[in-house]
Amino acid sequence: MSAFSSRVAGKLHRVFKNKIKNVRYLSVSTPCCGEHPQAKMFPVMRTPMLPADSFKGKTVFITGGGTGLGKGMTTMLARLGAQVVITSRKIDVLETTAAEIAEETGSKVLAVAADVRDPETVKKAVDQCVEAFGLPNVVINNAAGNFISPSERLSPNAWRTITDIVLNGSAYVTLEIGKRLIAAEQGAAFLSITTIYAESGSAYVSPSAAAKAGVEAMTKSLASEWGKYGIRLNCIAPGPIHTVGAFSRLDPTGQFIDSVKEIMPSGRLGEVEEIANLASYLVSDYASWVTGEVVRFDGGEFVSRAGSFNELRQVSKEQWDLMEQMIRKTKGS
Ligand code: HXC
Ligand code: NAP
Repeated sequence: MSAFSSRVAGKLHRVFKNKIKNVRYLSVSTPCCGEHPQAKMFPVMRTPMLPADSFKGKTVFITGGGTGLGKGMTTMLARLGAQVVITSRKIDVLETTAAEIAEETGSKVLAVAADVRDPETVKKAVDQCVEAFGLPNVVINNAAGNFISPSERLSPNAWRTITDIVLNGSAYVTLEIGKRLIAAEQGAAFLSITTIYAESGSAYVSPSAAAKAGVEAMTKSLASEWGKYGIRLNCIAPGPIHTVGAFSRLDPTGQFIDSVKEIMPSGRLGEVEEIANLASYLVSDYASWVTGEVVRFDGGEFVSRAGSFNELRQVSKEQWDLMEQMIRKTKGS
């Protein structure tokens, strides 16, 4: 029972101690681990939602494309016919992913090593993309660095490392490709993967929160500025989706994952194919009119954490009956 539920139960018990017998105060008995009962009402659709060949003849450039969500988005776009350049620091990981996706989808996937913190390596990676496939039609800023830590423990280099990867890295990629697109008079769709706490801020991930908020501000600024060049820019702000990269750094003990499911109206985490479908829509021509937008994609986590009275979801039907009586009794007072 949560502290809130205990308080409600205690108060109700005192007020109605003569009237209520055997009332169970915790309304929903949700398991602490594993499948949440609500999850089955939120089915996961894993197949591509866009028509086959939606990206035929299109070139995609995606950072952090070798693992996690980046790998998932690369797979989805390659399935839909795109040729994809995936880039990050670890060339062995990229090459393994590229070979796997190319074999599965029949689309070309090129692995190129680059550290997004270094504008020179970004430039070289874009050169390789142009040489192999031409200028990209789609650019996805997905690379990130993050770890949980009390902020007073962070050295200047720790702060710089996260903000360099997330904010400066996204800016270097966007500017490098944006300038070339503008010179070539070619439009494109940019997408950056941020996170729900870019909006709210979050304890223990302050450099990530600050940098992701910066990415959202950059996206909105350029959406206004570069529309005249046929360039659209949007963000997806996801809630938790299990990946080894994220969870090893943000939930090293494995405790967060079960508690967060309790908060989710959907009762479950997101899945890689779900964000891949949303991403593919946002970078497709079906979303031509969508620009400067941040799409929250979190199973309801953000709103569930925010509302002042949201914890009342733990109140049972019996407790509601009692509280309704209490409220009605105050009528006219
Ligand atoms: C405090 C730490 C630290 C920790 C590193 N540092 N880990 N400080 N607590 N746990 C400090 C180091 O001491 C160093 O500072 C500085 O940070 C740089 O660390 P390096 O290890 O030298 O950096 P580097 O090798 O470049 O690696 C970057 C990294 C690493 C971010 C630290 O974790 C990484 O490569 N991450 C990439 C993938 C990733 O993070 N994926 C998760 C994204 S998930 P000093 O002063 O000692 O030199 C995500 C999800 C958000 O963003 C939302 C979820 C719901
Ligand atoms: P991930 O697998 O760790 O992905 C991060 C990727 O970034 C890796 O492929 C990594 O590859 C690359 N990268 C890190 N530093 C880099 C650098 N300096 N230069 C180039 N590439 C770099 O984690 P993920 O969960 O898939 O995260 C993908 C994106 O989703 C991130 O933007 C993250 O913030 C966001 N996100 C994730 C979640 C979640 O719950 N999973 C929630 C909200 C937002 P290398 O190590 O090879 O460089």
